[in-house]
Amino acid sequence: MKRISVSSPANIALIKYWGMRDVQNTLPNNASLSMTLNRCVSRCTLATLQRGVSDEILWQVSSSALIPADPTLRQGIERHLQTLREHFDHWQPLRIATTNSFPTGAGIASSAAGFSALTVAFAVHCGHSPQHPDLSDLARRSGSGSAARSVLGGFVQWPCDALLLSGPARQIAPAHHWPLHDLIAVVDTRRKTVSSRQGHLAAASSPFYLTRLDRLPERLDNLRRAILERDFDTLADLVEREAVELHMIAMTSQPPIFYWQPATLAILARVRQLRSEGLEVCATIDAGPNVHVLCTAQDSPGIFAELRKLHGIERWILDRAGDGPRLLHEHLF
Ligand code: PMV
Repeated sequence: MKRISVSSPANIALIKYWGMRDVQNTLPNNASLSMTLNRCVSRCTLATLQRGVSDEILWQVSSSALIPADPTLRQGIERHLQTLREHFDHWQPLRIATTNSFPTGAGIASSAAGFSALTVAFAVHCGHSPQHPDLSDLARRSGSGSAARSVLGGFVQWPCDALLLSGPARQIAPAHHWPLHDLIAVVDTRRKTVSSRQGHLAAASSPFYLTRLDRLPERLDNLRRAILERDFDTLADLVEREAVELHMIAMTSQPPIFYWQPATLAILARVRQLRSEGLEVCATIDAGPNVHVLCTAQDSPGIFAELRKLHGIERWILDRAGDGPRLLHEHLF
């Protein structure tokens, strides 16, 4: 049996995608910019099923056990498979197994990583390169817009045309350009109760949403420049402002969405304090309570030593900028 296995990382948004102008096609209201991670990955193995007419979709619970995927995961994968099959005109039934190295559905971009892994694995299974130019657009059509960015490594903007808001993701700089660390404080490993999709749909009901959209193009330009110049102070200022703004929009949407928990605020406060003491550190938060603490490699050990003293954090994941999806020689079945 010929198997294809791919590992694809999650990403952390520095400028957040929040709100859609076309729900059917997952087209955003604003351009976003993220850093692809290294250790938070989804793995996916797929192979043609020799017998049967329907797909077999499995979830790996531990290194030796595969179980049938739960209905939500199964539906999401089946829907995306339909898109991939039509695009690549490849219709054989498949056996697919997938797993994550980090908490699923907790706001650490597991959908982005998972759909990116599936998209790349399917393309390779059909004989295409893992760098096929359609992969970003295809991953986005899974319904998880941020998956469009996970097919590339380093610092990634999506869509590439920030004015027309069209086109696939593009890499702004590779990971080795600025190998920032991301210390992820997992405040809550449970599946979040309000999905990003609900947040995207509610965003425009916030009275502050249009003001946000007006200001974003300039913030994106400034952040892009800060990354290219490795200017940490500017990056820190923009990234924290952006994180607070995303949650301010969520909290003022109808119905309001509150992702933060007490520990979220405690980490934000400690990070600001450490920065005022001269350390290169800042924080951002996607749609969940978990905090991504970004810092330079040099300051990372000292910052972690301080932050781990805080209470209310279930676990830490020590991650950093990474290179994007890769083919694996080890398979899940
Ligand atoms: O791609 P989605 O639908 O899971 O939405 C992602 C939303 C944020 O993580 C909050 C922002 C982003 O750009 O990743």
